[in-house]
Amino acid sequence: MQGKGILKNSSQKEWVSVCKDINSIVKCEVCGEPTGRLVKTIFGEGVFPRVCKCKRDKLKKQQEEDENRQKQIRLDQVINNSMMNENFKTCNLKNWDHGIGNENLFRIATEYIAKFHEMKSNNYGMLVYGDCGNGKTYFSGCIANALISKLVPVVCVGVIALTERISKSKRNFGEEGIFTVLNALENADLLILDDLGTEEDNKWTRAMIYQVIEKRNSSKLPLIITTNMRIADLKERYDERTYSRLTDMCSFIRNTGGDIRKMQGKAKTEVFFKKVMR
Ligand SMILES: Nc1ncnc2c1ncn2[C@@H]1O[C@H](COP(=O)(O)OP(=O)(O)O)[C@@H](O)[C@H]1O
Ligand SMILES: [Mg+2]
Ligand SMILES: [Zn+2]
Repeated sequence: MQGKGILKNSSQKEWVSVCKDINSIVKCEVCGEPTGRLVKTIFGEGVFPRVCKCKRDKLKKQQEEDENRQKQIRLDQVINNSMMNENFKTCNLKNWDHGIGNENLFRIATEYIAKFHEMKSNNYGMLVYGDCGNGKTYFSGCIANALISKLVPVVCVGVIALTERISKSKRNFGEEGIFTVLNALENADLLILDDLGTEEDNKWTRAMIYQVIEKRNSSKLPLIITTNMRIADLKERYDERTYSRLTDMCSFIRNTGGDIRKMQGKAKTEVFFKKVMR
């Protein structure tokens, strides 16, 4: 302890006389709070070190980051990042192509990342739906990568990969295996389920999707879903309780943009013809 150090290194009398004046306590140059506090001891009054606001904040942030790192490690053990497919990894707001991407989605992603703390504590999620190829996965990948770079534990996973992962765990460990995966999802501050509706459609997958959504709901943690399905079809395919959870937890956002893949394909074809038709 630093306090003891002061005592040991200086004579008692000296120490008391140096420290008893509260006005002599040095204030932090950054936050202005005193860096010592006056304490009554058997030797008289003395100044003991005190952690000022900016140091407290720094410590708190470090603790949070450590906790998040631990969460990410636990997540990686069960749902490793290999489930986050390569396409996700290139999504980045900095590379957002404003010529093809939807500006509304850009704004939403930017705000969602900036206000994630608030989004998380209010359990604000999104369900982004719309035609194939109009940038829904790109949008969710941007959010995932930005938050991961801020050390927020995020799981961003295709629904097919997730249901396969649960199914594999069940094969290996029985019912227990299902819960291992489901419980691990709770370690994610944000869960992104990409391409809802592309998984095989049967009673088991529908039950699993319900479980995943319900788990997020009960732990009050946000969920982002992307899907090519129309809302009416979504409602029909999944049962009422799944759909009603979704409406509770997610704001529905329709992405009206055109098919970027087709546009990119067309541009590529044009370049190709320019090359070969010269
Ligand atoms: N804002 C964007 N900036 C750059 N490329 C984008 C953007 N949005 C989509 N893309 C690209 O367009 C293609 C289709 O987008 P994707 O997000 O996969 O569509 P969806 O998930 O809606 O089917 C992908 O190759 C993706 O990388
Ligand atoms: Mg997609
Ligand atoms: Zn300070």
